[in-house]
Amino acid sequence: MGIARRRFDCLVIGAGGGGLRAALQLAQEDLHVAVVSKVFPTRSHTVAAQGGINAALGNALPDNWHWHMYDTVKGSDYLGDQDAIEYMCRVAPRLVIELEHYGVPFTRLDNGRIYQRAFGGQSQNFGGDQAARTCPAADRTGHALLHTLYQQNMRAQTHFFDEYFAIDLLRDEEGFVVGALVLDIESGEPLVIEAKTTLLATGGACRIFRTSSNAMINTGDGIGMALRAGLPAQDMEFVQFHPTGIAGYGMLISEGVRGEGGYLVNKDGERFMERYAPKALDLASRDVVSRSIAIELREGRGCGPDGDHVLLKVDHLGADLIKKRLPGIRESAMHFAGTDPCEVPIPVAPTAHYSMGGIPTNLHGQVVAPERHGPEEAVPGLYAAGECACVSVHGANRLGGNSLLDIIVFGRAAGEHMAEYIRENPYNRPVADEAVDRAMQGLSRWDRKGDGISVADMYDRMSRVMEQNCSVFRTEEVMAEGVKRILELEEQLEDVRLSDHSRTFNTARIEALELGNLMEVAVATMLSAAARTESRGAHSHVDYPDRDDKNWLKHTLYLKDGHVLDYKPVRMRPLSVEAFPPKERVY
Ligand code: FUM
Repeated sequence: MGIARRRFDCLVIGAGGGGLRAALQLAQEDLHVAVVSKVFPTRSHTVAAQGGINAALGNALPDNWHWHMYDTVKGSDYLGDQDAIEYMCRVAPRLVIELEHYGVPFTRLDNGRIYQRAFGGQSQNFGGDQAARTCPAADRTGHALLHTLYQQNMRAQTHFFDEYFAIDLLRDEEGFVVGALVLDIESGEPLVIEAKTTLLATGGACRIFRTSSNAMINTGDGIGMALRAGLPAQDMEFVQFHPTGIAGYGMLISEGVRGEGGYLVNKDGERFMERYAPKALDLASRDVVSRSIAIELREGRGCGPDGDHVLLKVDHLGADLIKKRLPGIRESAMHFAGTDPCEVPIPVAPTAHYSMGGIPTNLHGQVVAPERHGPEEAVPGLYAAGECACVSVHGANRLGGNSLLDIIVFGRAAGEHMAEYIRENPYNRPVADEAVDRAMQGLSRWDRKGDGISVADMYDRMSRVMEQNCSVFRTEEVMAEGVKRILELEEQLEDVRLSDHSRTFNTARIEALELGNLMEVAVATMLSAAARTESRGAHSHVDYPDRDDKNWLKHTLYLKDGHVLDYKPVRMRPLSVEAFPPKERVY
């Protein structure tokens, strides 16, 4: 019996903020939109975003999008593309107000305007006093935003395929992306979704690390699909370690805590950020704070019997403020650390949080690739937005509050461009059975028991290699060993053993598919990291401690076929203002 097919104008894979913002844009244009999500949409990882979304509204302190742009370029350690950064920072105020009108319940100032809190790396006047640019809904901003976008999509009649897993992209002979093969998780039945345009919005992949703030669902599915379709992954070596994960668990304690006045201390009670970032202190950029904590731990000033964490002190803010502005943080600390931050500091350590790299796109969300369409040409019919994409507004290090902004700005931009593309390409292109057969092989490779280690053991080994060989500080020797170990594991993936119940209970098969995607991302990350012989943003190479603009002011592109790396220049020219040339980055 043939595989069932459904036909839409647009297919959106992933129902986080980026996917839902794009879908809304498309549905409002009266296009027939399918959103495929492996979890119920409001369980997507955007729901976990805490601190807020950046926009230079100037509600709490003077602000200006140009200052926001400067901070973002500096935060990126000059690897961010300045045209994309300008675009994002300029449209931010308008799009945040648009979200407010959609119904996002932002926290308010007494005058009724949106409250704004200070976040790391924010300044007034191009590096002057601290700015306050992050718009929160208490400390549950992502939750508020995701539910609002879901409701708006319901209203706009977006079609949802809940609990469907995307296996692979479908391309035709001319290289057009014409949809995807997906799997109904409950029934195990495959389904072909034909579409004129397809958007990958599958989120990040920090589950490649053992300690992570990411949900179990963040398995890099979109990046895996793109790599298998012969497309590159850009800047994969840049993984953000958030300074404040709950020690031993990795769950996020928002930067908003430090924005409200919380600060870090070591075992001697010393406010150690005074030594590393004398001006910005605890609100230095994330890479700087994470490295400072790692040094404190390495030099024996960590807390607890194993000296493996520092303390985030909040009690001085008072119970009223904590309960009003940081209720979710208090709940997490009480649940996972067993301490009430109104009384006792929270034990924290860096945790893998965000993938700066991803599928390369232009400002319209079109996937661009140096492949058969020429160097830097758009892959027809394919778009990517949000954490799985690399546009690149975050460069080597993302600023807190810019990820929710990224998904809203570029989810919307992708939706707009997809609609335009469909006006010019109004018909679905045929999907050949051969393309479906090829995608089915990706599924059927797991329809056997295998005689190697289990999926869970393989995950454990992979995530330990990443933690041990590609963490906050990296050396040539440690990364070379990491490359060897991860490639060995990649080879063993073919023999991974699925549980006997894998065909009955699809969750086992889904876990295996996710492991396949995680492995693609882990290999890309390790190889890209080993290649970059400089220190920039989140990539701290101990043997090459300085930034090397002469040789490395460029993006890496990793291709799965042959495990090769290529490079492309950073777009240094903004759209309408002067460029910010690289200079020393101090906080
Ligand atoms: O710390 C936080 O609330 C995280 C925000 C972000 O990653 O943008």
